[in-house]
Amino acid sequence: MKLFVPKEGGGETRVALSPDMVKKLGTLGFEVTVEKGAGAASRITDSAFEAAGAKVGSAAGTADVILKVRRPSPAEAAKYKKGALVLASMDPYGNEKDVEAMAKAGISAFAMEFMPRITRAQSMDVLSSQANLAGYQAVIEAAAHFDRALPMMMTAAGTVPAAKVFVMGAGVAGLQAIATARRLGAVVTATDVRAAAGEQVASLGAKFIMTDALKDASGEGGYARELTDDEKKAQADLVAGHIAKQDIVITTALIPGRPAPKLVTKEMVASMAPGSVIVDLAVERGGNVEGAKAGAVADISGVRIIGFENMAGRIPASASLLYAKNLVTFLETMIDKEKKELSLDLEDELVKATLLTHDGAVVHPNFAKAKAPAKPAAAKKAEPKKEGGDA
Ligand SMILES: NC(=O)c1ccc[n+]([C@@H]2O[C@H](COP(=O)([O-])OP(=O)(O)OC[C@H]3O[C@@H](n4cnc5c(N)ncnc54)[C@H](O)[C@@H]3O)[C@@H](O)[C@H]2O)c1
Repeated sequence: MKLFVPKEGGGETRVALSPDMVKKLGTLGFEVTVEKGAGAASRITDSAFEAAGAKVGSAAGTADVILKVRRPSPAEAAKYKKGALVLASMDPYGNEKDVEAMAKAGISAFAMEFMPRITRAQSMDVLSSQANLAGYQAVIEAAAHFDRALPMMMTAAGTVPAAKVFVMGAGVAGLQAIATARRLGAVVTATDVRAAAGEQVASLGAKFIMTDALKDASGEGGYARELTDDEKKAQADLVAGHIAKQDIVITTALIPGRPAPKLVTKEMVASMAPGSVIVDLAVERGGNVEGAKAGAVADISGVRIIGFENMAGRIPASASLLYAKNLVTFLETMIDKEKKELSLDLEDELVKATLLTHDGAVVHPNFAKAKAPAKPAAAKKAEPKKEGGDA
């Protein structure tokens, strides 16, 4: 079996392989080729890959498996061998043309972000591994843009008070942001709309804040549901009073299949003291904060709003390590270990959830077009299946 890892384009700093995973792939029966310089931005040299047993060069047209961070462009996909398995974060919503191009290229494209969040797949969960690092990095970026210290410091020259950090959304990224801010000595509060998050927040030594008007907004699969208008107002009232007293706010709130909820209004931003910092981790999904600019730091009356995209990509050496492990662990489930050959089980729930294209067609239920009616007599136009929403 041949496996190829291309160098990512478009400013992506991560790579879908690590030297440890090259060794692991070797034991599974893979001959691994890595494109020259693929790991450079993650500080993995070509010689480190070679020392682990990989070749440096190109095998785009001959590889049976391709590991990537980002979805291949139609031009890249067209170069891959028909039938090749391609594992990446495919970001297919809004990019349906590219999905069709992958189908046309005859590759089997897996969207790693659709991995079900079940115990068996925990070590393959790219959303969690990257969100964890993003939550950490959000606090590091906030600290770097903050003009004061985070911990309380009692010195001979006087006392510096601890910074107040408020985390909105206590999922994977939010919990790591809380833990990181606590490690740096900040006084941390957090909010979420899922009641279950309260205990997790408290276990990290932070105070959980939630309005009485909102009992629990847990939705399907342990994710949040969208709030009703009354609930949104109650939450906004609670946040408005609290946020004015905060030094740093980190927002991470997402609702599957919906744009990110707007949680911080421009009035709330204006209520914060100059020198305060907000990090909007949801900026790629529309943002939680009014005035946040994707890919930039906005300054609104002295309050800095950090809208960096790809926060995990700002800590690429760690992010690549975890990402590569996620991909290789999933790939391992698709290998017949005795025969040392690929064996794709289309009935496996992990495959069903992630497979976008196969055998020349778009096969994922959220993207496959409805079949045309069989008989011309029933010539009513077939309704396309509704698209949108995270799997
Ligand atoms: N393998 C697993 O079983 C697994 C892995 C990861 C996460 N999970 C679960 O998934 C859930 C969330 O994970 P995630 O971090 O990927 O979620 P996410 O990235 O979709 O959302 C981030 C957080 O924002 C919160 N949120 C949504 N709307 C909000 C609002 N209006 N105000 C405040 N907060 C709001 C959500 O409740 C969530 O905690 C948790 O229950 C977590 O335990 C399970």
